[in-house]
Amino acid sequence: IPLKNYRNFIIVAHVDHGKSTLSDRMLEITGVVDPNVANKQVLDKLDVEKERGITVKAQTVSMIYYYKGEDYLFHLVDSPGHVDFRLEVTRSYASCQGALLLVDASEGVKAQTVANFYLAYSMDLKLIPVINKVDLDTADISKTEEQIQSMFELPRDDIVHVSAKSGLNVQYLLPQIIEKIPPPLHCRPEAHFRAQIVDSWYDSYLGVIMLINIVDGTVKKGSKIVAYRTKDKYEVKEVGIMYPDRKPFPKLVAGQVAYIIPGLKDPNTVYVGDTLYEAGADIEPLEGFEEPKPMVFVGAFPAQGTDLKKMEESLEHLFLNDRSVTFQHATSSALGQGWRLGFLGSLHASIFKERLEKEYGEKLIITAPTVPYKVHYKDGHEEIVSNPDDFPDNLRKTTISHFSEPYVEAYMSLPQEYVGKVMQLCDTNRGEQKEIQYMTNGQVLMTYLIPTAQLIDDFFGKLKGITRGYASLDYEDAGYKPSDVYKLEILVNGESIDALSMVMHKSQIEKNAREFVKRLKQFLRIQQFEVAIQAQANGRIYARETVRARRKDVLAKLHASDITRRKKLLVRQKEGKKLLKSVGRVKIPPQAYQSFLRKQ
Ligand code: GTP
Repeated sequence: IPLKNYRNFIIVAHVDHGKSTLSDRMLEITGVVDPNVANKQVLDKLDVEKERGITVKAQTVSMIYYYKGEDYLFHLVDSPGHVDFRLEVTRSYASCQGALLLVDASEGVKAQTVANFYLAYSMDLKLIPVINKVDLDTADISKTEEQIQSMFELPRDDIVHVSAKSGLNVQYLLPQIIEKIPPPLHCRPEAHFRAQIVDSWYDSYLGVIMLINIVDGTVKKGSKIVAYRTKDKYEVKEVGIMYPDRKPFPKLVAGQVAYIIPGLKDPNTVYVGDTLYEAGADIEPLEGFEEPKPMVFVGAFPAQGTDLKKMEESLEHLFLNDRSVTFQHATSSALGQGWRLGFLGSLHASIFKERLEKEYGEKLIITAPTVPYKVHYKDGHEEIVSNPDDFPDNLRKTTISHFSEPYVEAYMSLPQEYVGKVMQLCDTNRGEQKEIQYMTNGQVLMTYLIPTAQLIDDFFGKLKGITRGYASLDYEDAGYKPSDVYKLEILVNGESIDALSMVMHKSQIEKNAREFVKRLKQFLRIQQFEVAIQAQANGRIYARETVRARRKDVLAKLHASDITRRKKLLVRQKEGKKLLKSVGRVKIPPQAYQSFLRKQ
């Protein structure tokens, strides 16, 4: 198949607008999967994706489509729709020339449709607008058309109406892809091999597998190639396309998005976005992807009885598959050795944890999520603190000028009737209003500046809650703003439990202090001695709970009149308690730490 017959494209849509369903239909029409076999949602491969019904990783699948006497090779990249996975989306876009902009006929344009549209537009992708779910009774096709036309300036006549569920009109979409989306003509099959790593994952038999976008030349089994960033050399073991699983091919050619097996066991040396090239050739590297910027950090520690080494290996494998996770070693006096993990958002964090448990059967204790705060010193230098335990005590303010915290610009779309409630929610979350746009269909697009710390504290869940699920959210990094933040420490018998420290805004200390000591109390068993749980910030105790000691009744066996003996025993008991208190270390069960991780 010649280069002019390649079409690389992506489907961009808001969550649940039917991206995966539409992909399945196209795979059936092109014979990649058998429509009679009930293997729906071919692209959502991960267990967590099947269970949650959302796409986390971008997957790629190839199709061959016969049209007007010629074969065409399609590469469809399925990209995640959720706000947390922006980086995956950008990566997938980079290997494509066009996009299907999919909009649900009953829901219309939503926050994520808008955000994804701007991204695709800025990357010069040719857009084909598609309205899905036209079979629904609640479908409002003409309103949706009007929105697409007015918001994206896409001609109404170009819009294709489909029902991905029933397959209606999907057959007319494929010719559109050929007619409207250009082939990757910038690619040069005759040049030296040059490709970009789009994704990579680990297979326990084959080692590292890379999905690559071949820009120049060809690659086949036995090719000697080099990774630009590390200068590591590989001899290629296998090449092929995803159809829908790995299907080996004799060789791959410029313009294709396909996989190679480099015969590599150590996943740590692969960088998504890096350029691969023919050994010995003198080439320019391709423009890399933006490095992921973690917004949420958590401490992760193996639960009791888990092998640290084995867990580290598991983490490395997952890390290879998800380069947007950052990880570092960390030690906690309460939880021992572990890691500090950085994520793009809290959904991302909870999915990563789930994948680790599901795919590797291991258990983690995850501490409360935190954002990276900035410490500004009087001498002008700044420091980013992503572990609350390292956050300087406000008492030592002599060298510190102030603190600042990260913000996001949040876009929310919702029906007009909820505007009041959402404004209130944004206020209580320290948001600053920037813009409110009323759209033709009764929908409102609200733009707010919100502290990232509030966003990761289940802001989306709360937003969904007050709008009965009708609101959608997307956001963008908006830099740092000065903020009055403090470290809240939890003390157990005067000793600070490092894994439970949290940084928060002044206005939230009192409430959290009270809540945290109460929560922790539930997990402490009654001991021989009294246990004091305190919450402290800025050198002040904000809350206290006491776990009463179990009192051993030393007097039970005594005769009531035996006064001296009685006194003696009571004194001894008091001394014994003192001793226990000073030497006794309170054991805190792992669930106590777990309970600090909010439900997603
Ligand atoms: P994410 O992967 O989470 O971004 O979702 P998605 O966009 O891939 O959506 P998915 O294909 O999983 O579809 C979401 C829901 O809409 C599913 O329950 C589908 O069965 C349903 N759906 C998809 N297309 C249609 C359609 O044309 N008509 C109707 N009635 N339902 C549809």
